[in-house]
Formats: sequence, C-alpha cells, structure tokens
Amino acid sequence: MKGLVFTEFIEMVETDFGFEVADRIIENADTSSKGVFTGVGTYPSRDMAALLTQLQMEINQSIPELLRYFGKHLFHRFSKLYEHLLTDVKDTFDLLQRIENFIHVEVKKLYPDARLPAIDAHMISHDTMELMYRSRRKLAHLAHGLIQGCAAYFGEVMEIEMENMLEDASHVRFIIRKV
Ligand code: HEM
Repeated sequence: MKGLVFTEFIEMVETDFGFEVADRIIENADTSSKGVFTGVGTYPSRDMAALLTQLQMEINQSIPELLRYFGKHLFHRFSKLYEHLLTDVKDTFDLLQRIENFIHVEVKKLYPDARLPAIDAHMISHDTMELMYRSRRKLAHLAHGLIQGCAAYFGEVMEIEMENMLEDASHVRFIIRKV
C-alpha cells in the first residue's frame, strides 16, 4: 500500500482524534517500518490493519466504521490532490464508472507498484448502480467510505447497500441508489 495512504491516515488521526492518539497508535502498532511512513514509500497493507487495530482500541469504534470514516476523508483528499482527474466528471455515478478504466489507470501510471482493486460499475436502472469490488486486500469498507465521500463531493445523497459475495470479503457487491 502506498505511503500516501498512510500519511493521509495519520494526518486524519492527528486532526480528528489528536496528536497523542496518533503518537500512541504509531508507537503501539507492530508495523514493518516501526511507525515511520513517508509519502513516497510502499508498505505492506497489514501495517494499515495494525494501525486500525490500535485506533479501534483508542476510540472505541469498529474497524469497518473506521475504514468508512477514513474512506470519506480520503476521497476528499484525493479530490484535491488529483483534481485534474475530476475535471469533466459530472456526478457520482459518472465517477464510479471511470475508476477502473481511467482513474486507477492513471494512478498506476503514477505509481507502477500501486495495488488496486478491480471495480466493475454499471447502471441497473436510471437511479441505481451495481458496483462489484474485488481485491485480495479486502478493503470493501474503505471502498464504502470512498463512495460516500464521492457522493458528498458532488452534493448527492446515496443509499448504499453492501453484500459479501465471498465469505472472506474479497468480493463485495454494492447497490448504490440515488435518493
Ligand atoms: C479521484 C479518485 C480516486 C483516486 C485518485 C484513487 C486513487 C487510489 C490510490 C492512490 C490508491 C492506493 C493504491 C496503493 O496503496 O497501492 C487507491 C486504492 C483504492 N481505491 Fe482508489 N482512487 C479514487 C477513487 C476511488 C473510489 C471512488 C473508490 C470506490 C470504490 C476506490 C476504491 C479503492 C480501494 C478500495 C482501494 C484500496 C486497495 C484495495 O482495496 O485493493 N477508489 N486508490
């Protein structure tokens, strides 16, 4: 997982939960880099799991809740950092349909070692999208938060349902309905 994701996560914890919480989770998490993350580095995704486990103990929220919270925040940050990828995108559904063949393709050009999920998004009626998420990293709750962040960015209200297609959560189906 790219260092950028870690630095964004740590900055969010510092701002929203305080520097002391951030210091403690970094200190107590058993991470490969001993708590040192740089934007240009690459770290195992289990390091993110280790940080989330510590944060869960600090602030008494579940890991799925924390991943959704982070996902929302991360989309907001992506919309600033990668503004050029969003210039002619008109709404949430439009953006979600561009992840696989455009947005994550550009990400891969920028960071050839990026580990990205497979996203298959298509409309199933005029106001409803089916989005399939597949990844060995099993970060569907992060995807959920990113989708929520995307809807917030476009000022849209979406109902989002999530269903595991495989028990280990490596394949998850989202039904996203504009209300
Ligand atoms: C401007 C929009 C977006 C940008 C620039 C972007 C970029 C990125 C980047 C840089 C990573 C990290 C890759 C790594 O650590 O190796 C990532 C991972 C990821 N992206 Fe996106 N992304 C965007 C939108 C979305 C949206 C809307 C979703 C929702 C479905 C999504 C789903 C994910 C997930 C779940 C991961 C974690 C890796 C995994 O699950 O395998 N992304 N993306």
